[in-house]
Amino acid sequence: MEILNYYIDYIQKKLAEIDLNKEPQTLYEPIRYGIECGGKRFRPALILFLCDMYGGNIDDAVPPALGIELFHNFTLYHDDIMDKAQMRRGRETVVAKYGLNKALLAGDTLFAIAYNMVNKTKEKYLVRILDEFTNTATKVCEGQQLDMDFEKKIDVSISDYEKMIYLKTAVLIASSMKIGALIGNCPIADEMMIYDLGIHLGLAFQLQDDYFDCFADENIFGKKIGGDILDAKKTFLYITAYQDMEDEKDKQDFYNLYSDKNINSDDKINKVIDIYKKLNIDKKTKEQINYHIMKAQNNIDLLSLDKEKKSLLTKVIDVIANRSK
Ligand code: IPE
Ligand code: IPE
Ligand code: MG
Ligand code: MG
Ligand code: MG
Repeated sequence: MEILNYYIDYIQKKLAEIDLNKEPQTLYEPIRYGIECGGKRFRPALILFLCDMYGGNIDDAVPPALGIELFHNFTLYHDDIMDKAQMRRGRETVVAKYGLNKALLAGDTLFAIAYNMVNKTKEKYLVRILDEFTNTATKVCEGQQLDMDFEKKIDVSISDYEKMIYLKTAVLIASSMKIGALIGNCPIADEMMIYDLGIHLGLAFQLQDDYFDCFADENIFGKKIGGDILDAKKTFLYITAYQDMEDEKDKQDFYNLYSDKNINSDDKINKVIDIYKKLNIDKKTKEQINYHIMKAQNNIDLLSLDKEKKSLLTKVIDVIANRSK
C-alpha cells in the first residue's frame, strides 16, 4: 500500500503513543499483543488521506482514525472467537494465545478505549462523527450476527450475502472515508459520493478476503486457508458454486460436504477448493470484485476534487484492489 505509506506511518506512530502498559497486565497484555501484531492500518490511513485530499489538517483526523483502528481490532478479537480462528496477521489469534475470557474482555475494553479516542475529536466535528461511529459500530455487529446465522441457513442468496458484508465490512470502510472527507470540510454532495464509493470498495474488500481465504498464500495472507470452509460460511464463492450446479444431486452432495463438521479438515478444504476450481469460481469472484472496484472508481469523476487529487484517489483504490493480503 505504498501510496498510503505516509499516512500509515503517521497513524502507526500515534498508535504507539497510546499508553496501554497499564494494570492489570493480564488485561492489557492481550490488548497490546493484538494491536502490535500489525495489520494493514488502511482504514485510519484512508481517514487521514481523505482529510488531506480536501485540504484539512490531518492532525484533526487523528482521534477518529485511532478510534476506528482500535474498534476494528476489537472486532477482530471477537471475530476470531466466533470463527474459531487460530491465526491472524501471521501469529496466534488473541483467543488462541490467551483464551476465551481474556479475548472477550480485551475486546470489550478496546471498544471503550476506541470510543474514548473518537470522543477526543475537535468539538466542531464531534457530534457528527460520534453519530457516524456509533451507527457504524452497531451495523458491524448486525453484520457479524448475520454472518453467523448464515452458517446454519441453507438458502442464502447473493443479495443476502451482500447485505451481510455491507454491514460487517463495507460500512466501516465507507465511514472511514466519509469521516476523513468531513474533517477536510468537503462539500455535502462529496460526502455522500465518498460514502457510496467506500461501500463499493468495502464490498470488494470483503469479496477479496473471502477469495484469499481459499486461494491466498497463507504466509502472505497471515490467516489459515480454508477457515470459511470449516465454518460453513456462506461466502460469495460457496453461494455461486451452489447456484452454478445444475444437477440436484450435485447440489445436495456439495451442501452436505460443506455442512459436515466431522470430516477431516484438510480433506474438506481440498475437496471444496477443487469444486471451486472446476466451476471457475475463482474467476467469477474476481469479476465481482472488479465490478465493485469499477463502481467505486466511477464515483471519483463526480467529486469536486481537482484532477491531480482524483488521480491519487484512483491510485489508492487500485492499490487496495490489487492487494495480496
Ligand atoms: C480483516 O480486515 C477483516 C475484514 C473485514 C476482512 P483487514 O484485512 O483490514 O485486517 P488487518 O487489520 O489488515 O489485519
Ligand atoms: C469479519 O469477516 C469482518 C469483521 C467485521 C471482523 P471475516 O471473519 O471474514 O474476517 P477475517 O477473515 O477473520 O479477518
Ligand atoms: Mg473471521
Ligand atoms: Mg467472521
Ligand atoms: Mg475472512
